[in-house]
Amino acid sequence: MTVVTAPQKNLGMKDPLLEKIRQYWNEHIHDLELAKHPVGSKGFFQDLDEYRFDKLRYLPHVVDFQAYADRKILEVGCGVGIDLIRFAKAGAQVTGIDLAEQSVGLARQYFEHEEVAGSLQLGNGEELEFADNSFDMVYAHGVIQYTSNPKKMVDELRRVVKPDGQVVMMVYNRISWLNFLSQTLGVGLEHEDAPVLRKYSIPEFKDLLADFSEVGIVPERFPVKSRLQKGAKAAFFNLFFVPAFNLVPRALTRNTGWHIMAFAKK
Ligand SMILES: C[S@@+](CC[C@H](N)C(=O)[O-])C[C@H]1O[C@@H](n2cnc3c(N)ncnc32)[C@H](O)[C@@H]1O
Repeated sequence: MTVVTAPQKNLGMKDPLLEKIRQYWNEHIHDLELAKHPVGSKGFFQDLDEYRFDKLRYLPHVVDFQAYADRKILEVGCGVGIDLIRFAKAGAQVTGIDLAEQSVGLARQYFEHEEVAGSLQLGNGEELEFADNSFDMVYAHGVIQYTSNPKKMVDELRRVVKPDGQVVMMVYNRISWLNFLSQTLGVGLEHEDAPVLRKYSIPEFKDLLADFSEVGIVPERFPVKSRLQKGAKAAFFNLFFVPAFNLVPRALTRNTGWHIMAFAKK
């Protein structure tokens, strides 16, 4: 992988597991293998955006990227900034932090290519360097499940959001079609080799968010054809499982969505 110039900063982390998590994510940029263009090029980010919003086609329906013009948004675990740039392009004042220098460096390149303003910093979501009540919206999509101490991170997300703001989060659903299929077919999940990967039931996730005054839960992410898997299992999945599953009314399968989205008020 191209080495990206990234901010050097000592995060002063006392938890050795966080250091392992940081190392892992420096070596495993999310969805990197799907990109056809060279890492860091304009086409690279377009590939990642196209792949993400095909796989997560629900996302723009549940998160209104256009609705935050002039609002202050913090994304914790922003990766290379694929979601964050959507908020920024719609006029939000965005800050993205990530534990991994590679992600922050790539996110900076993405914002530069697109000539969009944003503050992208190295940071630990378990100890945010922001004052209480700083942001209108705090976003952590696919991050809480990979950190060392999820309660600490959730407390920080709640601390920095304004009293009338919102925290938007996503974790993986243990009781989901994807987890069931992965275990039945013996097909590994993405990033199953990460130092930490937790899966939650909906009640467990609600327990984690118990300090919020209001929490709306939306299970999402239903089967779409896979571009990653190859061979007989992929053929079974793409040609049989995906169409068959999607014939069942969503009302019956809703709670088995792989992504549990939460929309929480302080
Ligand atoms: C699966 S990726 C998701 C990236 C992005 N949110 C997305 O949806 O594409 C998980 C990201 O969380 C970051 N991360 C994990 N623990 C973190 C922490 N304690 N503080 C900040 N970032 C963290 C990783 O470095 C990685 O970039």
